[in-house]
Amino acid sequence: MRIIVTGGGGFLGRLLIEGLQEEGEDDIVAIDVVETTIPGCQVVQGDLAHDQILPDLLKDGPCTIFHLASVVSAGAEADWEHAIDQNLGGMLQLLEACRHSAHVHKVVFASTLAVFGGATAGGEVGDFIKQTPSGTYGTTKAVGELLINDATRKGHIDGRSARLPTVIVRPGAPNAAASGFASGMFREPLAGVQSVVPVSEETIMVLGSAQNTATCIRLVAEIDSDRLGHDRAVGVPGLSATVSEMLEVLEKVGGPEARSLVKLDYDAATDELVQSWPATLDDARGRELGLPADPNLESMVLAYMKMVNQ
Ligand SMILES: NC(=O)c1ccc[n+]([C@@H]2O[C@H](COP(=O)([O-])OP(=O)(O)OC[C@H]3O[C@@H](n4cnc5c(N)ncnc54)[C@H](O)[C@@H]3O)[C@@H](O)[C@H]2O)c1
Repeated sequence: MRIIVTGGGGFLGRLLIEGLQEEGEDDIVAIDVVETTIPGCQVVQGDLAHDQILPDLLKDGPCTIFHLASVVSAGAEADWEHAIDQNLGGMLQLLEACRHSAHVHKVVFASTLAVFGGATAGGEVGDFIKQTPSGTYGTTKAVGELLINDATRKGHIDGRSARLPTVIVRPGAPNAAASGFASGMFREPLAGVQSVVPVSEETIMVLGSAQNTATCIRLVAEIDSDRLGHDRAVGVPGLSATVSEMLEVLEKVGGPEARSLVKLDYDAATDELVQSWPATLDDARGRELGLPADPNLESMVLAYMKMVNQ
């Protein structure tokens, strides 16, 4: 079966593709608006929201599409029009291509805990809590989840949404996510470079390792459709940690020199967006559906160090 990964050139897309290849998948097509190469994988460069890329790729038989292409949190807050165009436009293009296809394709949508907000900001959420996002990014993802539910109900796709925690530690350059500091505060000091944390030390985040999250995205495709029922969105396991706890782990793995490279420089706009996200995730349903969890925060950072030192 062909596997298509939109946003396949991005951080999680690459890890997901690696994991799929390790599982023996050899017909993988990555779509990305940015020119890129991925070993062992066909890459189609184009804009999912505007270019007719999918119809041709979907014509030979049922496929699994991992839909990761997205404008992310701070980027969406900074440019509403672009976020609506890309995130909703991309989802509509994808669903239309599936609806007009002769086959029923499986679609796994990369959603986010930022679909929560409003009265649940800073509180506990789970798969049965109402979504009232506080930002444009979360709003586009919440709409995407509902469209996935409806397209599945109509029989156009077999859809699922994986609600991801904030993923650490992102290697390379940061993207436009407001949560980017949660990776930067490990990545930069561990490489001997200064890093800035724009939120307070008491800020709590729900975190997952890149490796575990990519595995969970892959496993969401394998969940028996009947077990998901009407609401196709599943919370991917994540662990809660305060910024201060994250700094303690940095010191444990990188020593006091690494810790001393982190500067707290408060930025109200970033803090407001991050504080609007949940502080705790009840991930019981995800675990029951077979999604693994990271053992602890330290293991997430060690997994990153192992990856970059390979
Ligand atoms: N990384 C996280 O912490 C996190 C947390 C929650 C949810 N998510 C979601 O997971 C997905 C992947 O995240 P990531 O961290 O790998 O992001 P990323 O920015 O590294 O990758 C996204 C990729 O999508 C591509 N893209 C964007 N718009 C496109 C379009 N219109 N057509 C084709 N390609 C397009 C970008 O070029 C980029 O390579 C996103 O949907 C994101 O919202 C990520």
